[in-house]
Amino acid sequence: MTLAPPPLSLYVHIPWCVRKCPYCDFNSHEGRGELPFAAYVDALLADLDFDLPLVWGRTVQSVFFGGGTPSLMPPEFIDRFLQGASSRLRFAPGCEITLETNPGTAEHGRFEGYRDAGINRLSFGIQSFDDGCLQRLGRIHDSAEAEAAVKLAQDAGFDNFNLDLMYALPQQTLAMAEHDLERAFALQPTHISHYQLTLEPNTVFAARPPAGIPDDDGSWDMQEHCQVLLAQAGYRQYEVSAYAQAGRECAHNLNYWKYGDYLGIGAGAHGKITLGHDQSILRRWKLKHPTRYLAEAGRDRAIGGDERIPPERRAFEFMLNTLRLVDGFSLTGFEARTGLSRTAIEPQLQAALANHWLTLESDRVRPTELGRRFTNDVVGLFLEE
Ligand SMILES: C[S@@+](CC[C@H](N)C(=O)[O-])C[C@H]1O[C@@H](n2cnc3c(N)ncnc32)[C@H](O)[C@@H]1O
Ligand code: SF4
Repeated sequence: MTLAPPPLSLYVHIPWCVRKCPYCDFNSHEGRGELPFAAYVDALLADLDFDLPLVWGRTVQSVFFGGGTPSLMPPEFIDRFLQGASSRLRFAPGCEITLETNPGTAEHGRFEGYRDAGINRLSFGIQSFDDGCLQRLGRIHDSAEAEAAVKLAQDAGFDNFNLDLMYALPQQTLAMAEHDLERAFALQPTHISHYQLTLEPNTVFAARPPAGIPDDDGSWDMQEHCQVLLAQAGYRQYEVSAYAQAGRECAHNLNYWKYGDYLGIGAGAHGKITLGHDQSILRRWKLKHPTRYLAEAGRDRAIGGDERIPPERRAFEFMLNTLRLVDGFSLTGFEARTGLSRTAIEPQLQAALANHWLTLESDRVRPTELGRRFTNDVVGLFLEE
């Protein structure tokens, strides 16, 4: 089978936040004093130059500024980066360009600046509209500020935006989780990400779990009820935690979950690139710490590590991503993106079908409700021996 280069995305990591949230294990650092944005944009462009030979001639389908808190970066820096990037890479017409936004960083004029720089989609870290929950999560904004931030963005012309909500929060009841969704719907987002709070190792919450986190049954109940509300309000679930109005799925995340390619630039960013010339798939990640990254960007010393994904691991990785999707994957897509033949996964596929974890209809494999509940077991079938 031939590995065909899939669609290409660009991920840009901005590693600073106003304050570190106690549940968060993202590569984010409390920014003290003046942040070195001008130097960071230089570093990002040098980093991009360094990675460019991996993607000569290919077109970028989506760009995603993630963090950390990208909305800490004033629009002129986003503008300079995007101008630099588009002079080095071809952007597809209508390319989706998303910026993650913490409502606590919203100010007048900012959103106009982002729009003029080329940002056409925003993703707000709302988490909850309950002020008690927000406080317990250590957030820097309250619910009124969150709503005001979204309205500022709407006034600036943004109609395509996501709201991140978390559920199973300390001292949260089912009624509170449902109320969060009602407040979200009122703002008419095109997309809602609905994450269960997880206690990530090496976070304050993992070390000292807060009181009143709902147990497994309570969390499951919340998820089920919220799924119904989301569907009734016109948000179709297309991934474990992602819900969208028709046609408003996040192109960037979809490409990632479909085992597409992405360049990762910025501190700690991860990339995955299919190399046609030697039929391999390369993973590469950058130095995590902003100060070290700033000093080394654009040189091989800025590479935290890289590896080729051996063929025997590709089926597992492919499943780990695509089985998060409600619509699963096609067998033709499996062959194109892994370079493996469908016969290589025949026994595992048969086992999963027999367990009613997956369905197969002509070329398409979808996880069932049961399969989505036991994703780890399903994906585990495809682990190399
Ligand atoms: C990089 S952050 C988004 C933007 C911005 N940093 C913010 O928090 O406002 C991505 C999202 O991941 C979710 N998240 C982070 N840590 C989580 C955790 N431990 N459990 C569940 N969701 C989490 C939050 O909803 C958060 O908005
Ligand atoms: S603002 Fe977002 S990235 Fe920063 S610490 Fe909080 S959740 Fe993590």
